[in-house]
Amino acid sequence: MRRRRTEHELATTVLVDRWRQTVEGTEASRDITNGAGISVTLAPVVERVELTDEIVLHVRLLPGQLPDDLAAVAPRLAEGMGVAACRVVSVRPGRVRVTLLLCDPLMTENGALSRPVRSALEPLVLGTGEDGTAVSVALGASAHLILAGSTGSGKSVGSYGLLSQLAVAEDVRVTGSDVSGLLLAPWSKRPDHGDVVLGTADPAAHVALFEHLVREMDHRITEIPAGRDAVALGTEVPILFVVVEEYAGLLRLLDVTDKGLGKRARSALARLLAEGRKAGVRVLLIVQRAEAAIIGAYERSQASHRLSYRVDNRASVELLHPGAAPAVADQHTVATPGIALLSAPGMPLTRLRSPLCTYAQYCDAVTAATRSDGPESGPAA
Ligand SMILES: Nc1ncnc2c1ncn2[C@@H]1O[C@H](COP(=O)(O)OP(=O)(O)OP(=O)(O)O)[C@@H](O)[C@H]1O
Ligand SMILES: [Mg+2]
Repeated sequence: MRRRRTEHELATTVLVDRWRQTVEGTEASRDITNGAGISVTLAPVVERVELTDEIVLHVRLLPGQLPDDLAAVAPRLAEGMGVAACRVVSVRPGRVRVTLLLCDPLMTENGALSRPVRSALEPLVLGTGEDGTAVSVALGASAHLILAGSTGSGKSVGSYGLLSQLAVAEDVRVTGSDVSGLLLAPWSKRPDHGDVVLGTADPAAHVALFEHLVREMDHRITEIPAGRDAVALGTEVPILFVVVEEYAGLLRLLDVTDKGLGKRARSALARLLAEGRKAGVRVLLIVQRAEAAIIGAYERSQASHRLSYRVDNRASVELLHPGAAPAVADQHTVATPGIALLSAPGMPLTRLRSPLCTYAQYCDAVTAATRSDGPESGPAA
């Protein structure tokens, strides 16, 4: 017992000492000159160390400092403390818990697929967070979703995992445009869902679909009863889940075919993003880089859920996650496929890993499921 206490005291001393040396070298500390003209460094102080299954430091912040100020230097703290990652969680004003993670909790592959939902208003799992719990999106409350990431970063696999959950829900119609011809192919075998336009053979068909969806949105808006600000979603008025795979590729195709087509697609999509939420339209926009030439800042801001898988540089992270700490953004430029940063209302920037859903599993999940009494799909004009 006594020996264990001594070991604990020794470990605490080493950790506290290392913390001080580390944190004093970061922007979370402040150099001041005291009354005697001597310059001193003030830094967040470890008040207590908890050594259980995890190593947790209970830290008192400097006056006026926020938990985010410490989170912003977390990668530097991890490096200095000799661990894989540091997670900072606010406990109460002026106090945080800093958990030292010996390995990246997201490095284990997440093979467990999420179960299909009965209703599209139930939360849909986007992945597993660093604390091991599911990170979800509730389409009833959310607006649109943007998935960005360099080639091979996990956008399509993440979309397989998300869309497969909608396979049996009665109150959703999956529709959209997919120049790759893969992501939405299984939905083309589901006549109880909306139209999908696949491939590059008929560029104008993609635009016709967007314009058809805008007309449907406008019609739904005129039907919103007095005293309500949005349609009542359900099997009568299902969520229109508009998936746009490889949007930049689509725009390139349209622009080379006929400039007018690209313009029409941009303007239809802008309307779906700006006005769709109240009409039960949710757009899932998938792009390699959410830059202004592809999607303007206003349209970008209409997406409540913005996920970035690995991107090329810090600026690409900032496009969808303004205010992300530079060190966190830099670290994300080398993320493993399937690991994403999520910005969503009411939660701090969250790191998650999507389940590894293979294309075959996804196709099986969508095509094997059927709905007998699902809503009719409307024809593209
Ligand atoms: N969640 C994941 N867990 C483990 N591996 C993954 C995960 N997501 C993706 N991968 C791996 O990365 C590969 C590429 O993923 P994916 O096809 O989704 O990339 P992408 O972002 O859609 O790329 P592109 O822009 O070229 O279409 C997958 O074939 C798989 O091997
Ligand atoms: Mg892809």
